[in-house]
Amino acid sequence: MKDKMRFMTILLAMLIMPFVARSAAPEAARLSVKQVMNAMITPMTSIIWGAQELNTDAQRQEVINAALTLIGAGNLLANGGSGDDDNSWAQESNWQQFNREMMVAASAVISAVEAQDTEALFSAGNDRLYPPCENCHQQYQSR
Ligand code: HEC
Repeated sequence: MKDKMRFMTILLAMLIMPFVARSAAPEAARLSVKQVMNAMITPMTSIIWGAQELNTDAQRQEVINAALTLIGAGNLLANGGSGDDDNSWAQESNWQQFNREMMVAASAVISAVEAQDTEALFSAGNDRLYPPCENCHQQYQSR
């Protein structure tokens, strides 16, 4: 009887453990700010900044997707990350402000592409998307 109880307890633990481990240890699946910069923000901004003649729906969609991914990256940055300073940075109001400006600029990129307004796209990319990168790096990069 006692052995059977022990067996059942172990069996139950084996069944439950993978789920506990999955929900309690998400750290391995978290990105660092640096990874978000390199894997998402840099490649997406080069699509946006490189956009010139957007003649087809596919070309426009690529830029819209890049801007959407940038907003997704901003959502990650708002929640910190796995780097040493990432979570404390995310608490700061300047961090949140620069991050929000980047996401708002990405929305402006989407509107400009949808309106097929080259002038607006240029201005969203240069006047609105670029400054928050600079400002945030000035304050937080290699601090
Ligand atoms: C909210 C703050 C913030 C914003 C906005 C931001 N960055 Fe960053 N970025 C950082 C921080 C902090 C680092 C340094 C991360 C580290 O070394 O741990 C960084 C690093 C980088 C790096 C260097 C990565 C490396 O391997 O060292 C690149 C490239 C970069 N950012 C590109 C951009 C671009 C382009 C934008 C604008 C579209 C941008 N970032 C917007 C905070 C920001």
